[in-house]
Amino acid sequence: MKTTISLSIPAEVETESLVAVVLDHAEPTQNGQPQKDKKPLLKVATPDAAVQSVAADLLASGELTGKPFETNLLHKPAGLKAKRLLLISGGPAKKFSSYELRRIAGTAVRTMKSRGIRTFAFVAPSGIPAEEATRAIVEGAHVGNFDPDYYRSDRKDQKIDELTVVTSGDQAALEKTAAEAQIIGESQNFTRDLVNEPSNRMTPTILADRGKKMCAEVGLKCEVYGADKIKELKMGAFWSVAQGSDEPPALIVMTYEPAGAPAKPVLGLVGKGITFDTGGISIKPADGMEKMKYDMAGGATMIGAMRGIALLKPNVKVIGIVCATENMPSGHAQKPGDVQIAMSGKSIEIINTDAEGRLVLADGLYYARQLGCTHLVDAATLTGAVVVALGYANAGVFANDDEMYERFHAANVKEGEKMWRMPLDDEYKEQIRSSIADIMNTGGRWGGAITAAMFLKEFAEDTPWIHLDIAGTAWMEEQKPWIAKGPSGIALRSLVEFVKSFAQ
Ligand code: BES
Ligand code: MN
Ligand code: ZN
Repeated sequence: MKTTISLSIPAEVETESLVAVVLDHAEPTQNGQPQKDKKPLLKVATPDAAVQSVAADLLASGELTGKPFETNLLHKPAGLKAKRLLLISGGPAKKFSSYELRRIAGTAVRTMKSRGIRTFAFVAPSGIPAEEATRAIVEGAHVGNFDPDYYRSDRKDQKIDELTVVTSGDQAALEKTAAEAQIIGESQNFTRDLVNEPSNRMTPTILADRGKKMCAEVGLKCEVYGADKIKELKMGAFWSVAQGSDEPPALIVMTYEPAGAPAKPVLGLVGKGITFDTGGISIKPADGMEKMKYDMAGGATMIGAMRGIALLKPNVKVIGIVCATENMPSGHAQKPGDVQIAMSGKSIEIINTDAEGRLVLADGLYYARQLGCTHLVDAATLTGAVVVALGYANAGVFANDDEMYERFHAANVKEGEKMWRMPLDDEYKEQIRSSIADIMNTGGRWGGAITAAMFLKEFAEDTPWIHLDIAGTAWMEEQKPWIAKGPSGIALRSLVEFVKSFAQ
């Protein structure tokens, strides 16, 4: 999608359609009490008198609710050069922020796509600073522009070709913002492309090839190691999962080292790349197992993040590591009760072979530290328990360092990604104590997302570290006005923003 900036007044923009945001200015109800005859007080969020006047009768008609994502399309709007005017409600004006704006922009794209319109101009709403709004509109539009129906014969592949952001301010600065937002949006969709592929078309080898190809395109160093190197490095935890599959595993290492970057910090981004998770010998039930093709979403997120970083060029060294393998039952698969020795030397009693993500990440995190990483972030579809705890709206964040957490949280807010911090108290460690080895790979029924994180903490040790459990957020269970059903690309935007924060 090409993105351009227009500093014209909205009425003067010639386009297939202008898109403007409608906000509800009615006073919020007191103490959350429902107010019987509360009527919305709707206004278009632009000072442009011509746009306001075209919308006036509709907004005053009492026909609209003003609820988020309500859309109305007007043809041949009088006094505008645009052929159409699409009005999208953004909900209450008081709580409207760039978070909502991203979703409105995605909704605009999906509304246009479904009508076969390929170009439009989005009026940046008054009330949000121009650069912040431009970023949200361009990123949100990219999110909306992705559809996962690759293998449908009737795939229309209807995409928006060109988006114009109608705003005001410094043209050059706004163009730079739009270009950066486009890189982020395209990287997020690149990640979603990888996650969307089924496991027969996204083996560890294919994932590594896609990573290599991307790295070559953007000028990153990329090394891919196979079983021999994994064994040579004594990655006994990673290998214990890989040994059960006929598909060769891949350890993908991507390095971004800009000339003149300081020796420290070195950021390590470690991703879980299970291209299919059957559960292994502790096999999963058949119902819903097909979804386990997205168990490489954490790894794909790191590959996409490295793409964004390479193109945005922050002045900080970053190493991306993806531990890619299938988790399969077979005659050479590991079994419950087996004891494995991780790269760090810690011994692990395998209680459940379905707790495989933490095994591959244990060695990935330790290896990142060996490579000199001073700060670590991992992303993984790690536990069903995080979905029990937080549902689909928030990813789980765990941190062994408050400053790292605050920095990451700031990136979440800036990039409109919802995540919620979970605890890592020492008490939880008791649940993964083993009588035969240093630790067990599962911690029983309660607090499953936390005990999984406690397991990883044993391998991050005292290196500042953040763990993102994206099991509930990496896949949209249903479509929303602003996003298709399927891979979401969650965490990529925050990760890139987080990395950039170290370069300032
Ligand atoms: N990949 C799964 C977690 C998962 C569940 C991701 C649902 C996405 C949606 C992970 O490898 C797993 O199987 N975890 C087990 C751990 C248990 C055996 C301790 C789980 O969550 O049930
Ligand atoms: Mn599993
Ligand atoms: Zn898994």
